[in-house]
Amino acid sequence: KADNGYRLWLRYDHIDNATLARQYRQQLASVTYETGNSPIIQAAQKELRNALQGLLNYNPAFVNAPGKGSTLIFVKNGSKQLSPALNKLINNTGNEGYVIKTISLNNAPCLVVGAANDKGILYGTFHLLRLLQTHQSLTNINIVESPKTQVRILNHWDNLDRTVERGYAGFSIWNWHKLPGYIDPRYIDYARANASIGVNGAVINNVNANSLILTADYLRKTAALAGVFRRYGIKLYLSAKFSAPIEIGGLKTADPLDPAVKQWWQQKADEIYRYIPDFGGFLVKANSEGQPGPQNYGRTHADGANMLADVLKPHGGIVMWRAFVYDDKTPDDRAKQAYNEFKPLDGKFRSNVIIQVKNGAIDFQPREPFHPLFGAMKKTQIMPEFQITQEYLGFSTHLVYLATLFKECFDANTYSEGRGSTVAKIISSPVNNSLTGIAGVANIGTDINWCGHPFAQANWYAFGRLAWNPDQSAAAIAQDWLKMTFSNQADFVKPITSMMLSSRETTVNYMTPLGLHHIMGTHAHYGPAPWVNNLSRADWNPVYYHKADSAGIGFDRTATGSNAVAQYYPPLRDSLNKVETTPEKYLLWFHHVGWNSRLKNGETLWNELVKHYYKGAADVAGMQKTWASVKGKVDSTRYHEVEQLLAIQAGEAAWWRNACVLYFQTFSKLPLPAGYTKPD
Ligand code: GCU
Repeated sequence: KADNGYRLWLRYDHIDNATLARQYRQQLASVTYETGNSPIIQAAQKELRNALQGLLNYNPAFVNAPGKGSTLIFVKNGSKQLSPALNKLINNTGNEGYVIKTISLNNAPCLVVGAANDKGILYGTFHLLRLLQTHQSLTNINIVESPKTQVRILNHWDNLDRTVERGYAGFSIWNWHKLPGYIDPRYIDYARANASIGVNGAVINNVNANSLILTADYLRKTAALAGVFRRYGIKLYLSAKFSAPIEIGGLKTADPLDPAVKQWWQQKADEIYRYIPDFGGFLVKANSEGQPGPQNYGRTHADGANMLADVLKPHGGIVMWRAFVYDDKTPDDRAKQAYNEFKPLDGKFRSNVIIQVKNGAIDFQPREPFHPLFGAMKKTQIMPEFQITQEYLGFSTHLVYLATLFKECFDANTYSEGRGSTVAKIISSPVNNSLTGIAGVANIGTDINWCGHPFAQANWYAFGRLAWNPDQSAAAIAQDWLKMTFSNQADFVKPITSMMLSSRETTVNYMTPLGLHHIMGTHAHYGPAPWVNNLSRADWNPVYYHKADSAGIGFDRTATGSNAVAQYYPPLRDSLNKVETTPEKYLLWFHHVGWNSRLKNGETLWNELVKHYYKGAADVAGMQKTWASVKGKVDSTRYHEVEQLLAIQAGEAAWWRNACVLYFQTFSKLPLPAGYTKPD
């Protein structure tokens, strides 16, 4: 059957296994809601009806009160029918959590989906449907879930002309021209997809913001989107340009300490909340890559963030202030600048400010060590920012499953409080009563399949699941996604899960092995360009990052180099300071290593580098074979789409390998290892 991928992981195709489908129909024969009937509950009910219709070709009986024969009951805030213990459990699920539990009601098994709030019922509904979609047994369920972070948010880098910065899946899905009058059904499907994975926020415009988004005309349009999102538990946020008071307010300055500026923002906040009563707040990119900010007026990031935080506070809004800052002030090492600027401000931010920090200190590379600001700001809330769109990872052409990249950051030990101070733990522990959060730069556009590559959908999916709970495994999430998106057949799920799990390492191997970084084509960030050395600023040139010369390759960030290692806590700082104790995957990130230096396996650095490049390219050929082995197990449309994209990826992996090996060889002047044929 043809499938264009539009339905994402919410396909709800009929379950072929007749025995299983029959069992589900019996187990869900009658449904009761003791939840009230809010718009969120209505959305959850609608999803359940549609899904059961699709999956089971079945309309259960909806009965008013739970009692004899009820097989599925949704309960908000407890019920007379349930035991005090279960009611207590339900009432303790918090704002978004839920319980799914099999109990005995009138001597018959009954499934309870309980929550303290509407959003929990919505999320519990999607979890229940996931169980069906992945063919799990409903017989003895006992699930208690609540999210580990509070703000789980997509950042759309969407411009008002509908282009998308670093977007590789068509244009922006927000149709500004037809809003607010026309509600594209796509907005509803977008909200459903997000709710199904627990995403509860969306910043709808680019961090390189256009101030017009804050004018009444756009706020009216934005309010219409917020109305759609609200029914799915999603709050709308906006990127605010710091100079908006000048651009749309007619002021002469945007100095955050100027009373007129503050008053302007105050009135703007009040206006926004008139349009969008549950507006989430602002995301701000300030004094970064040419964007205006408080430093233009001799003020600090804290001055700027706090001024905005104060005007949002009475309305319950927050400020997500980005720490992605660099300029040529730190000419020796761009990786150090965010820490240098933000660490001294620790403790100076309001409690409704969260500092948004990219997972690594450079910029969404195929592999980066975790950002040293994680764990460094003990009195300031930090939220990580991941990039779901594959700016440096082959756009939506290369199949790269990013859950393993996200996990590497979450699981990294910062040692800020000794062992066990992982990034996941730090970012899910509220500081100063602040909200906790995780952001992901969206990979969504107007392409029929939303993300440009059928497998790029998995990165949106995995982002949501990991934002809910960073402790989940990349493998379990991949399996769920594959089953929901393609097929439950074991001989499909097993090989393709392992293909997904190794895909990111494969990409690292053919692009930036052993800690290399930022050697992509400049501007577009596509394809290899390690030789580029003619851009106006040193820190834009790839040669700045790999520093290859006749002696060796790599960026010395140790005490004898830029000393960026000092931004990490001991003992990590000390182990990264030495070649022998630096994990080889980060070797050239932290060290300039001689071409003939021996690595742990006894190989020279040069040979090992070449072998990584060759392995990366060979492994893409392996992915093609794996995909060919599942032909016929998935619909032909998506099969052929992935097949063709993998062929492009294979060609481009060879391009990366050849370009990098030949270029670096001009420095090493060494032959390829025995048995390796030189590329043409
Ligand atoms: C990268 C990206 C830019 C983006 C910036 C940011 O540098 O290339 O397009 O604006 O990150 O995160 O602000």
